[in-house]
Amino acid sequence: VAAAASASSLDAAPSDATSFFSPSKINLFLRVVRRRDDGYHDLASLFHVIDLGDDMKFALSSSTTRDTLVCDDDTIPLDDSNLVIKALNLWREKTGSEQRFWVELKKNVPHGAGLGGGSGNAATAMWAANDLCGKPASEADLLLWSGDIGSDISVFFSTGAAYCTGRGEIVEDVDPPLPLDTPILLVKPNVGLSTPAIFKALDLDGRSAEDPLGLLEKIKAEGPKDSICVNDLEAPAFSKLPELLELKKRLKADGGDGVKSVFMSGSGSTIVQIGDDDVPGFVADDDALFRAKTRLITRKKGEWYAPSPFLEVK
Ligand code: C5P
Repeated sequence: VAAAASASSLDAAPSDATSFFSPSKINLFLRVVRRRDDGYHDLASLFHVIDLGDDMKFALSSSTTRDTLVCDDDTIPLDDSNLVIKALNLWREKTGSEQRFWVELKKNVPHGAGLGGGSGNAATAMWAANDLCGKPASEADLLLWSGDIGSDISVFFSTGAAYCTGRGEIVEDVDPPLPLDTPILLVKPNVGLSTPAIFKALDLDGRSAEDPLGLLEKIKAEGPKDSICVNDLEAPAFSKLPELLELKKRLKADGGDGVKSVFMSGSGSTIVQIGDDDVPGFVADDDALFRAKTRLITRKKGEWYAPSPFLEVK
């Protein structure tokens, strides 16, 4: 399959380009169930899609040989290793289409963050390609195929709240476990973490003993709590990046009594604070921190839906 062209300018959008919102996710809890023979791990995790996202534009390209991907972040590779190009290649392979695309990606979601930003981009690319070409594939097809390019892409074809098992690609829609307007703060040091390195460093003996289906019931009944929002990947992430544990403690202390739970998302390095409306949150006095307020979102009739306009994203 031909490589994508790389272009540096973002101002050459075709006049017929269509905008798509590419969300990210958090894991409200993440249990590692077992290490598998294929190098992956079976998980049991409650994923929720959030309104922190990237802006993408898509247009049909007249090229017969390659897609064009432009991005405002020059640290992101634009070749076949980019999940957007992998997603378009997979969509063409599965549908038999030869259509090429022009894609613009404006990044807001940090990488190495445990927020699935790149996975969201891949899901959005499959969705947009299918949309612009008259929907040759069903949503169920897209969900099924998406597991081929990464473990946490399928959640972006869910309704937004999903209990995920297998590598993370087996998605079961659940009713939103928390109100969608629950205030959530994301804080991440400038340094990211590599997912394979965190899974590799995981000591299976150090896992929480909680039954994941029990956690799913408890979060619905009791809301977010530290004893429920467990993440088995915290231990290896905190040992690689000790400042994460400090950040977690600080987010708990600074929020006072209004803080319900503070935990790491995915394989890190984002720390999530869930609090009451009146929690002042962590006042960033440090430019080395990424900080964003976000909310949980759901998907209705193909569109990502938030109950009111987006909160501040810094
Ligand atoms: O599926 P994805 O490409 O996102 O996974 C990246 C890496 O993270 C895998 O190669 C594997 O090392 C690790 N991983 C894992 N178990 C999972 C998901 C990812 O060990 N369930």
